[in-house]
Amino acid sequence: MTRKIIIAGNWKMHKTPQEAGVLAQAIVSAMPTNLACEVVLCPSHTALATVSTAIAGSAVQLGAQNCHWEAQGAFTGETSPAMLAGWCQYVIIGHSERRQFFGEINETVNRKVKSALKYGLTPIICVGENLAENEAGLTQAVVSDHVNGAYAGLSAEDALKTVIAYEPVWAIGTGKTATAQQADDVIGLYIRPALAALYDEVVAQSITIQYGGSVKASNAAELLGMPNIDGALVGGASLQAGEFLGIVAGASAKS
Ligand code: 13P
Repeated sequence: MTRKIIIAGNWKMHKTPQEAGVLAQAIVSAMPTNLACEVVLCPSHTALATVSTAIAGSAVQLGAQNCHWEAQGAFTGETSPAMLAGWCQYVIIGHSERRQFFGEINETVNRKVKSALKYGLTPIICVGENLAENEAGLTQAVVSDHVNGAYAGLSAEDALKTVIAYEPVWAIGTGKTATAQQADDVIGLYIRPALAALYDEVVAQSITIQYGGSVKASNAAELLGMPNIDGALVGGASLQAGEFLGIVAGASAKS
């Protein structure tokens, strides 16, 4: 069984459309031709158009950072998966910043995942514990709860179309990376078994699970070399073409 290796750049609320196009162009123009992984750029919604133009004809794919669950309607300020489907292959769902600042809960994550799949988008479902939960020994309980919530009512066939990003909140933007062993343990000992309990061992071993949290060029190869880590969801370091390309290069540790 070979899982996909995916390196995704989550640009969060950075870059104007024009700046995003320039960054995407810089990444694409220096991208090696025989990639050992999939590469996805996730700009803000306003920059999807310029990034889409910049990556046209390359192997780089496009992702959004969030979506609503309805196809359309009176939801001011929201973007539906139907609207993203023409541009994007991926959509990040349930990022900890959305859980922390924008009221995202398991139920909304679940609705968004189902809707994204309906419109042919691959959801990158974020799970992970915060510092207090980590220190209280609640990591397994939290990641299992996030997995159970996100996958509620999802068939095995649909589950196989999803990607998970394990992002310990205490490692995001803090410069504190989970050690490669810590990240691999959470994925291998907690997240895959939670999937196995919902489905079976084959499904649990087939789903791509990325690590996210202060991934940079200097630690990418070690993280990506771990047996359970199938890629990276990169924040800050994805805003610099050279750093991001260094992380993409680290994916060759997998092959
Ligand atoms: P950093 O790489 O900046 O820690 O962010 C991780 C993240 O939240 C990616 O979604």
